[in-house]
Amino acid sequence: MKTLEKNDLKVLINEAEIQNRIKEMANQLNEEYKNSEVCVICVLKGSVMFMTDLIKYLDMPLKLEFIRLSSYGSNLTSSGKVNAIDISLPDLNDKNVLVIEDIIDTGHTAQFLTEFFKHNFNVKSYKFISLLDKRCKREVNINPDMFGFEVEDKFLVGYGLDYDGYYRNLRYIGYIQ
Ligand code: IMP
Ligand code: MG
Repeated sequence: MKTLEKNDLKVLINEAEIQNRIKEMANQLNEEYKNSEVCVICVLKGSVMFMTDLIKYLDMPLKLEFIRLSSYGSNLTSSGKVNAIDISLPDLNDKNVLVIEDIIDTGHTAQFLTEFFKHNFNVKSYKFISLLDKRCKREVNINPDMFGFEVEDKFLVGYGLDYDGYYRNLRYIGYIQ
């Protein structure tokens, strides 16, 4: 696989745009949940940047859990097969669950998680929140309950999203030109 240089990247969504949108999303969640406790589930690794920024603006009492899934490997296209690497969670019965994802692409990951929570818990409420929505690539009929930006069919990196493991630390979302 060709090594990517930073110069090969073009900015799609800059740092200020990301931060402003995250504040708007947090405000909406604060309104929706008022002071009800939530359990935030961060889907590693891609969602780590989005989750850390989002929860700084949340006012309700919250607990944080991490699960690790993979679907991409080092390819540029979704495999459609979801791997649960670590999905150990506490009892979430009667909890307000907020699943935090970086991007929803084919929708297989979102569908897998939605089924997983339905079969394993009797949650009080469930929301699937994604920073990005690549709606044009959807293969299954599922949409996030809230998303930050709709994006086109480009391979994106930065702000948690990786290319062969790299570029997760960028403060912006870029694409390979
Ligand atoms: P889905 O199961 O096809 O919806 O894919 C979800 C996962 O694929 C996301 O959580 C990302 O980790 C990864 N993914 C999808 N599109 C991109 C992209 O453009 N860049 C990097 N990772 C992506
Ligand atoms: Mg992800």
